[in-house]
Amino acid sequence: MRIIILAAPGAGKGTQAEKLSQHYGIPTISTGSILRRNIQEGTELGKLAKQYIDGGNLIPDDVMIDVMKDRLAQPDCEHGFILDGFPRTLTQAEALSASDIVIDAVLNIDVADEKIIHRLGGRVECSKCGSTYHKEYNKPKRDGICDRCGGALVTRADDKPETIQSRLDIYHQTTEPLLAYYKEKGMLRTAQGQEEVADTTAEVLRVLGD
Ligand code: AP5
Repeated sequence: MRIIILAAPGAGKGTQAEKLSQHYGIPTISTGSILRRNIQEGTELGKLAKQYIDGGNLIPDDVMIDVMKDRLAQPDCEHGFILDGFPRTLTQAEALSASDIVIDAVLNIDVADEKIIHRLGGRVECSKCGSTYHKEYNKPKRDGICDRCGGALVTRADDKPETIQSRLDIYHQTTEPLLAYYKEKGMLRTAQGQEEVADTTAEVLRVLGD
């Protein structure tokens, strides 16, 4: 199974990508996680990415396409993958279509902007393993500590209110048009995001025909 999750920032892409990864036994490829790991490690890619991510802007297409070509050629992607965060522009989508990778479905998780602002405003992330929680909807067992690895939970630099709004604006201008691109190709499946993570997962599996 090769799935693209194409949804607004904060619609629950990362959360559902993890659920689908467990369900199908295939890896999640999260562009955001790849970039944040490079920032933490201080690589050349990380230094470049930081200038864009902190302001909520997209990394240039040529850089992102090269990163993904390398990542998708790794052996763990052979039997399928969940793409969380790629493609995000028409140029990236066309590069993927031009490759020999066959995508089975493109999943949209539909959530209103007002809800997204509330979700991202309350999100915290593990500084070690990247697991995400929410201060109200998905609390860790111990305050400020990751259930999975015991790492410290922090707020992402791009989850400041003004940056959230600019990420949403960029999504509507640049990424949302890809819904029409994939609908035209007959690949788009839309799930309505629900209040509870488990209910969204059930809806996602239903639209994927599982
Ligand atoms: P990326 O990491 O992909 O960030 P994003 O798209 O902004 O998405 P998020 O990770 O913020 O949200 P999500 O949809 O995964 O939501 P989550 O599941 O955490 O990218 C970061 C940056 O990297 C970009 O801004 C850009 O600069 C760069 N970049 C990445 N890819 C790129 C590309 N292809 N090209 C160029 N640049 C690129 O959920 C959010 C919160 O809600 C959590 O707290 C969660 O617990 C909670 N929640 C989730 N589901 C529910 C539910 N059903 N009910 C209640 N709460 C819920």
